[in-house]
Amino acid sequence: MPIEAVLIGAGGFGREVLDVVEACNASQRHGTDKYIRLLGVVDDSPSDVNLNRLKDRGYDHLGGVEDILAQKTAGNFVLGIGDPKVKRGVAERLENAGWHPMTVVHPSAVVGSVRAIGAGAIICGGVQLSTNTRLGRHVHLNPNSTIGHDTVLEDFVSVNPGAIVSGDVLVQSRTLIGAGAIILQQLSIGEDALVGAGACVTRSVAADTVVIGVPARPVDHSILTAANTSREVQEIDE
Ligand SMILES: CC(C)(COP(=O)(O)OP(=O)(O)OC[C@H]1O[C@@H](n2cnc3c(N)ncnc32)[C@H](O)[C@@H]1OP(=O)(O)O)[C@@H](O)C(=O)NCCC(=O)NCCS
Repeated sequence: MPIEAVLIGAGGFGREVLDVVEACNASQRHGTDKYIRLLGVVDDSPSDVNLNRLKDRGYDHLGGVEDILAQKTAGNFVLGIGDPKVKRGVAERLENAGWHPMTVVHPSAVVGSVRAIGAGAIICGGVQLSTNTRLGRHVHLNPNSTIGHDTVLEDFVSVNPGAIVSGDVLVQSRTLIGAGAIILQQLSIGEDALVGAGACVTRSVAADTVVIGVPARPVDHSILTAANTSREVQEIDE
């Protein structure tokens, strides 16, 4: 029996997560070892271009989060939103209404002897997840990211493509690690922090801090246009 689920997020990351689900189905390897049948995509305000991209792949738009909360009995969801704070808000609305988050692991990911993978984790193609690691709820590991031995990523952390989190690192809740960033070993990154794309983090980072550059240094929030990072987040936020 296939497991039915809805995909949340019609943007770039949402459609990458669609690829992960399809790859899992093709190989029959994912968190549940069952075939996932996606009923369609949920997004509060998808662009026409993304709706057409989904239609071309055979997926319909089911409405926004409030629509499925009002119209459907609670079921399973796969969360394809990259921004940690946005994904927490959506996940909590759905889970409070009895919806169940699905964990999906791309068949090409190399997963060592992990301690825990929390509900709703999404592990994309080419990820290297080393030994004795622990992932909280709704942690997203984007393509080709690497998580070193003994590292802990707390709830709602997102690691963007190609980033390297070294061994024995603690990344606290809702932090975003930008594409291609490197976090050196035995550091901690506080809650709600943002590590800019390409940064090399050599010292621990305080909560709610944005760091950029090599070596990474805190940056004044006011020079940044938005502490957010991807088109699909803006779409679902609008
Ligand atoms: C740090 C970050 C959040 C800043 O975003 P922003 O607020 O939109 O910043 P802006 O693009 O307006 O840039 C502001 C200034 O910071 C610089 N800057 C932005 N990101 C930078 C980065 N990662 N490293 C170094 N400098 C950066 C810009 O060059 C610009 O400098 P300038 O005013 O001298 O031209 C963002 O650039 C980032 O790195 N996000 C990570 C997201 C990611 O991984 N994206 C890929 C998704 S797959």
